[in-house]
Amino acid sequence: MLLNMFNGGNSRCSPTVLLVFILFSQFWVTNMSKPNILLLMADDLGYGDLGCFGNDTIRTPNIDRLAKEGIKLTQHISAASLCTPSRTAFLTGRYPIRSGMAATTERRVKSGPGTIGGLPRNETTFATLLQQQGYTTGLIGKWHLGLNCESHNDHCHHPLHNGFDYYYGDPFTLENDCLSWESSQFRLKDGPIHIQIVALLLFTLLTGKIIGLVSLKWKIVFFIILCGILYIIYNIAYYLILQSWRCLIFRNHEIIQQPLKLEDAAFRTVKEAVSFIERNKKKPFLLFVSFLHVHIPCYSTKLFRGTSQHGVYGDNVEEMDWMVGKILATLDKEGLTNDTFTYFTSDNGGSMYMQWGERLGGWNGIFKGGKSMGGWEGGIRMPGIVRWPGKIAANTILDEPTSLMDIFPTVAHLAGAPVPQDRIIDGKNQIALLLGTVQRSEHEFMFHYCGTHLHAVRWHEKENGALWKVHYVTPNLQPNGAEECYGKILCPCSGDDVTYHNPPLLFDLLKDPSESTPLSPTSEPRFDTIISQAEKAVTEHQMTITPVPNQLDLPSNQWKANLQPCCGIFPFCWCDKETNNF
Ligand SMILES: *[C@@H]1O[C@H](CO)[C@@H](O)[C@H](O)[C@H]1NC(C)=O
Ligand SMILES: *[C@@H]1O[C@H](CO)[C@@H](O)[C@H](O)[C@H]1NC(C)=O
Ligand SMILES: *[C@@H]1O[C@H](CO)[C@@H](O)[C@H](O)[C@H]1NC(C)=O
Repeated sequence: MLLNMFNGGNSRCSPTVLLVFILFSQFWVTNMSKPNILLLMADDLGYGDLGCFGNDTIRTPNIDRLAKEGIKLTQHISAASLCTPSRTAFLTGRYPIRSGMAATTERRVKSGPGTIGGLPRNETTFATLLQQQGYTTGLIGKWHLGLNCESHNDHCHHPLHNGFDYYYGDPFTLENDCLSWESSQFRLKDGPIHIQIVALLLFTLLTGKIIGLVSLKWKIVFFIILCGILYIIYNIAYYLILQSWRCLIFRNHEIIQQPLKLEDAAFRTVKEAVSFIERNKKKPFLLFVSFLHVHIPCYSTKLFRGTSQHGVYGDNVEEMDWMVGKILATLDKEGLTNDTFTYFTSDNGGSMYMQWGERLGGWNGIFKGGKSMGGWEGGIRMPGIVRWPGKIAANTILDEPTSLMDIFPTVAHLAGAPVPQDRIIDGKNQIALLLGTVQRSEHEFMFHYCGTHLHAVRWHEKENGALWKVHYVTPNLQPNGAEECYGKILCPCSGDDVTYHNPPLLFDLLKDPSESTPLSPTSEPRFDTIISQAEKAVTEHQMTITPVPNQLDLPSNQWKANLQPCCGIFPFCWCDKETNNF
């Protein structure tokens, strides 16, 4: 209508009216073309854990639907093989070493909610960029990028200080001890055995005394029993306090549940995501759903327990898929599906760590290694899916290298936000590649770090599409073929537990995606050229790294009582203000 009025040649159309019209139409156009952004991130999900990525025994119909209606990224690379650095890179579009979120020690993730380090305030997340463009931004789920700096509630690293308007979730990560007492790792492994042994000894002693087999005086028997009971009480209290300290749920700046209740956490996460979409359906929104699934201990609700072919892990994957389905259904119901850029990925690969002779983590498909290793594909090659119906071709596959860091400039572009010019952004705006208007990814070299140590580099040759991987350092694996690091949950990055390769190991990832047969100057005539090109790229890359305060060094990553978030009177941190109960 406005357009008709204007074209109708209204001679009395004053410059002011014209200006107002232009401003209005611009506002209208930009606002209309800004898609919603829905980002879904699994925790520790392997490349081979989804139906659409070739798994024929796990049921993930909702994520498969996303792939069918969108584009599948088969070479989607995480900047690190562990949560804290990988998520930092995802949110900032920069290698974590640039923000001090790459560790120099063996503890390469935030070790608890009561430690100083975290995502520095002068880093800019894509949420901040989108917020500045009028988006309503929400984070639901896991954070794991720090919380406090100086007191138990200054929240200096909180999501609300990093571009999010709304936050609901666990500021730390899921741990075994967040489970109920029956299945906590503490009970099954460390503390409990002692408790059971002590209890058994006490019982034997008492029975022995009663039936006259033990000649100790009653006084002494009572004294021993008392000590034993105190020991058991101490252990249980220790577990309960530890659980409440490390497992908690925030809504914005308020702790609403401590310890978090896993029994209905999945339902509450879905409810929060659905309600965020419904509250914000009229204006552009960014919603980042960061699942606690499928991190060990893989707690599933009754609906999914024992229903998959792959034990507790499979149940958990299928439950997460169901959660994804509920969120997608909300987009459908509100008519937002075509106006929403939807993305699914995982932060890093499945863990290869064996517990009690069994691998509890995800399946990284044909790729070697997994979580916490520096360069092997299994830890950094993520299932990636993007759907934007009508814009991005449905049911397509993109084999070009892309990075989780690309989401930063890509969503900034969609929102019309300029990316910061005062720093290096390592991610690339991939919108042209996704829309199919260009065929080649701009990524030529990608660097694979283990903490602050560069372990490997990938070279995607622009001219011929060749794909090389050069490893300088690899973790020492168990000789049993399980691809598990030697006796450690997290693989070390340097020292005696890794192997330094000189000449480096070279693999042709197109011919040998499993990195099983290293090439030699005889088997690969260009061996020396490739190695020296990679070397050159590494040197150039390293020149762009400037020293920054490390957020994961020992003092920054050590628990401090005064930083412990606590709903109650420290050390007794218990509360439940959660109103969504199921
Ligand atoms: C499917 O995923 C499960 C669970 O991680 C895994 O055990 C299984 O090997 C996978 N199957 C295939 C064919 O990839
Ligand atoms: C959404 O996009 C798809 C693919 O282009 C199209 O077939 C469908 O009609 C669109 N739906 C709506 C409601 O516009
Ligand atoms: C953030 O501040 C630190 C010093 O505290 C500085 O070294 C770093 O360069 C700054 N980062 C950015 C992106 O400005």
